Amino acid sequence: MFRTRRLRANAGIRNMVRETRISKDALIYPMFFEDGENIFEEIESMPGQYRMSIDRCDSVIEELLDAGVSAVMLFGIPKHKDEVGSEAYHDHGIVQEAIRYIKKKYPGIYVIGDVCMCEYTSHGHCGILNGSDVDNDTTIKYLAKIALSQVEAGADMVAPSDMMDGRVEEIRAILDDKGYKNIPIMAYSAKYASAFYGPFRAAADSAPAFGDRKSYQMDVHNSREALKEVEEDILEGADIVMVKPAMSFLDIVTKVKEITNVPVAAYSVSGEYAMVKSAANNGFIDEEKIMCEMAVSAFRAGADIYITYYAKELAKCIDKGIIG
Ligand code: PBG
Repeated sequence: MFRTRRLRANAGIRNMVRETRISKDALIYPMFFEDGENIFEEIESMPGQYRMSIDRCDSVIEELLDAGVSAVMLFGIPKHKDEVGSEAYHDHGIVQEAIRYIKKKYPGIYVIGDVCMCEYTSHGHCGILNGSDVDNDTTIKYLAKIALSQVEAGADMVAPSDMMDGRVEEIRAILDDKGYKNIPIMAYSAKYASAFYGPFRAAADSAPAFGDRKSYQMDVHNSREALKEVEEDILEGADIVMVKPAMSFLDIVTKVKEITNVPVAAYSVSGEYAMVKSAANNGFIDEEKIMCEMAVSAFRAGADIYITYYAKELAKCIDKGIIG
């Protein structure tokens, strides 16, 4: 008889034959920086996550470093919003200043700038409006400016999350032109129009004032389209492609992994975190086990990189040998 249980008999052998290995190096932690001073405000729908001003970010970064997480992705909440989201590409915008601060004080941290406009525009859409529609070709010029300003401030990588066509090419061109040939682009390639972003939009104050994002983010019914997005982004120069959200799109992670040789990232988004937290806070589930299972499933599906609000906690689980 083939006895599958032989290799399950004890922790030693189970750990030896694990097919999925998780490393802290593959974790990215998203952070919300708010323009102002002395701000450290818990996000209501994401207990344990904070909107913070630059002067209050040290403890968060030091805890990450202590846990062994050394990559962060930054989102900004500006003081002023306008039609074109000008704070997003301002030299001294909140994200640019946060990048400068972190890179100076913690050079070992790898800093990724999220490139989008929805947190910065008065209408909350991810681009420049023409009537009620987001104008693709105008928007990508702005996205390139945003990416450049983040890189000039010291970002190690930029990650466009807007879902406009042609943005990767536009960003690659401006970075190359300005001498930043070695700065990689992680494209949110297969980003779905998902209800799982709800808590993020409350956190970043970025919900669209009218309509929705379905004319630029992907329809959740589609998977071949995701492969097309990925192919296009790679042709345009993406170094890493992302699937987002993670948990409800693991089939997409697997399919993307099968068609490409570039690293694949999966973003476990705000709604995933909020669901786990609220169920755990009610005593309905075991938070640690669930977060581990979710992380493992993303890597098992094919993710090379995992963006998660649980980065620090997962790193501790790796230390404890629960996963990894
Ligand atoms: C910006 C952006 C969003 C997220 C990441 N970048 C929100 C959105 O598209 O509405 C969501 C992240 C999360 O939910 O954790 N466009």
